[in-house]
Amino acid sequence: MMTPLMQQIAEAALEAGRIMKSADQEHLSTINKEGHANFVTKYDMQVQRFLMEKLAAILPEAHFVGEENGQEVFLPEYKNGFTFVIDPIDGTTNFMKAYRPSVTSIGLLKDGEPYLGVIYNPYTDQLYRAEKGLGAFENDRRITTSPVPLSDSLVSMGTAPYYGPEISRSAFEIGYWYLDKSIDIRRSGSAANDICMVASGRTGLFFEPQLGLWDYAAGAVILAEAGGQFCDMHGKPIPFTGKTSFLGVSGAIAGNGGYMPPEELMHGF
Ligand code: IPD
Ligand code: CA
Ligand code: CA
Repeated sequence: MMTPLMQQIAEAALEAGRIMKSADQEHLSTINKEGHANFVTKYDMQVQRFLMEKLAAILPEAHFVGEENGQEVFLPEYKNGFTFVIDPIDGTTNFMKAYRPSVTSIGLLKDGEPYLGVIYNPYTDQLYRAEKGLGAFENDRRITTSPVPLSDSLVSMGTAPYYGPEISRSAFEIGYWYLDKSIDIRRSGSAANDICMVASGRTGLFFEPQLGLWDYAAGAVILAEAGGQFCDMHGKPIPFTGKTSFLGVSGAIAGNGGYMPPEELMHGF
């Protein structure tokens, strides 16, 4: 059973997925954004426009933070009421190359706090969703994080090439640090999907040295409702206002401790 609010937002995500799947991937032109290998396609813009219109009809009073609409951070005046945080296509480079996954991600903050999250992978028809206090779901199945220790878990990592060499080197060094503490490392190309993989118990931990609010806002609600935990990579709480490092982990690994990477491997973030 979904609440009426969740039902409407989930429908918007499904429709966004249909737009993604309608793309003519063989003739996809891209525009370069700031930094090395930072792309946007006309579908990122089209899905963002669609979602802003659709979601504004659902909650007309809500503010918007979105990757492709120029409003990239949470403003102090958003502290009261609802704010949608959207990443129309998370995994744009995957999308361009017809490599998977790419997902659409819709987060909703209430008074600046995570409240609701919907992440949809249209290529596998997996819809992840959670509302504060009501549990997390993959389609109609309730999900929880994995019960196994880090030594029996996959770890996934993110490494955006446009944040510069220092952060990238750190990401790989930290990935290497996790390699012999886990069963292997994965890098999917979609941070929102990576967070869902921890929430649904497929991986035990995900980290990335730099994410935008739209990359983690929806996933964080889903992960917390699935029994997982998140913080920045220095172990500090995430304020949900903009860029941060991110570490999401299963409840079991969090309970055992010893999973935070050493500070001396963190450079530039
Ligand atoms: C990116 C993806 C990628 C992560 C980057 C993000 P985009 O989002 O989530 O996995 O490593 O940090 O920026 O640009 O595809 O929406
Ligand atoms: Ca993204
Ligand atoms: Ca994006």
